Amino acid sequence: MESAECVILPNLAIIGAQWGDEGKGKITDYLDETADLIVRFQGGNNAGHTITVGDKVFKLHGLPSGVVREGNLAVIGNGTVVNVEDLIEEMDMVLKAGCSLEGLRISDRAHLIFNYHKKLDGAEEKYRGRDAVGTTRKGIGPAYQDKIARIGIRAGDIFDDESLREKTDLILPYKKDLMEMLEAERCGCDSETLFNRIKGWRAKIGGYICDTSVLINEALDEGKKVLFEGAQGAMLDIDHGTYPYVTSSSTCGGGICTGTGVAPNRIEKVVGCLKAYTTRVGEGPFVTELSGEEGCILQKKGGEFGVTTGRGRRCGWLDLVVAEHASRMCGFTSLAITKLDVLNGYEELPVCVAYEIDGKETRYFPASMSKIERAKPIYKTLKGWKGWDDTASVVKSGYDALPKEMRIYIELVERHLKVPADIISIGPDRNDTIDRKKDWWN
Ligand code: IMP
Repeated sequence: MESAECVILPNLAIIGAQWGDEGKGKITDYLDETADLIVRFQGGNNAGHTITVGDKVFKLHGLPSGVVREGNLAVIGNGTVVNVEDLIEEMDMVLKAGCSLEGLRISDRAHLIFNYHKKLDGAEEKYRGRDAVGTTRKGIGPAYQDKIARIGIRAGDIFDDESLREKTDLILPYKKDLMEMLEAERCGCDSETLFNRIKGWRAKIGGYICDTSVLINEALDEGKKVLFEGAQGAMLDIDHGTYPYVTSSSTCGGGICTGTGVAPNRIEKVVGCLKAYTTRVGEGPFVTELSGEEGCILQKKGGEFGVTTGRGRRCGWLDLVVAEHASRMCGFTSLAITKLDVLNGYEELPVCVAYEIDGKETRYFPASMSKIERAKPIYKTLKGWKGWDDTASVVKSGYDALPKEMRIYIELVERHLKVPADIISIGPDRNDTIDRKKDWWN
């Protein structure tokens, strides 16, 4: 019998190397064309990505991007949180556009988001006042709180009248007390109404719910190509991100395993999606942030406005302390560097290679918020590729046709992280992509 270590499992993960919005949607869309299964492993409808298939454009939040590709299985893994009502709306939109949902699968272990989670999200933010996280107010944090507190309702629970009634009877009075304490907007729902609403979901989503861990592991055993699609980014990870200014799930490498039920020794390749500069939405420290006019220019050039909330993103120079931290936490084997074209036109490009904190230089991202707030970026300033705007010839001729200055920029990142930049993205279009690896599954 062949030993387990010798078997190459064709799978690939895509994880954001900063605070989300790195352009993962485009890279996922590029790589998932050849995948059989596309799997979301964390987060919920706080994510947002725009997928273009032919002449159809989809703005998806809760559904995995692969759902619009016919023949694929699109899996919502156990590490996610699912707002069923919003999901049904998205499903209806996809169906109306003439796409099939045959490939959709939802883990029976995924936790559900209810209205009281959304209301509590808003109330908690208000309660925190100046220390608000700047959440998407989709109820993500409160839903994960219930998961950890062992009072969550999972997708698989919707089938079992008795246990569902027990859960709704337990939870609603508790949530009502909490909402009153936090002066949250009233929920207006009683446990009977909630029970019936959940039962009503059986008809709409019941057929998609299954044990997705078995499904994914069996697919891997059969040599099927599995793509794990990360949401948000490494710096928003609940453990390794800029806590408490983070989301409530595990966005880093380990999240793939806990969020899907696939063991660590089965994960083969992890692509870190790294934007050529840095952005973040919401509150929290940001060492290379550009303030005033400079920040606005980069925001405008990059079209840095959120798909989910429409909020303008904060912008700054590339921060390799952040990228190296992300790479260590996620185990990047390749980088996809995105939005390099947004930096066209700059005379000079500062890249942060270390921080100075209290007079000491460090390459490591500190845990302490106050230390990060005191950190000063140490920049290496590279010459820009001002005047260059010839995407078309590069797309035809490949990496070597990129301007020398852009290659120096890319190679600095590669050297610093010790990870090859296998994908270079120099425009929003699928074709504006240099793929230096080509065979991603072997
Ligand atoms: P939550 O995930 O709604 O709880 O928000 C927590 C933090 O994560 C906030 O700073 C959000 O702006 C940020 N966040 C959540 N989802 C995304 C995303 O998809 N892209 C970028 N930031 C996100």
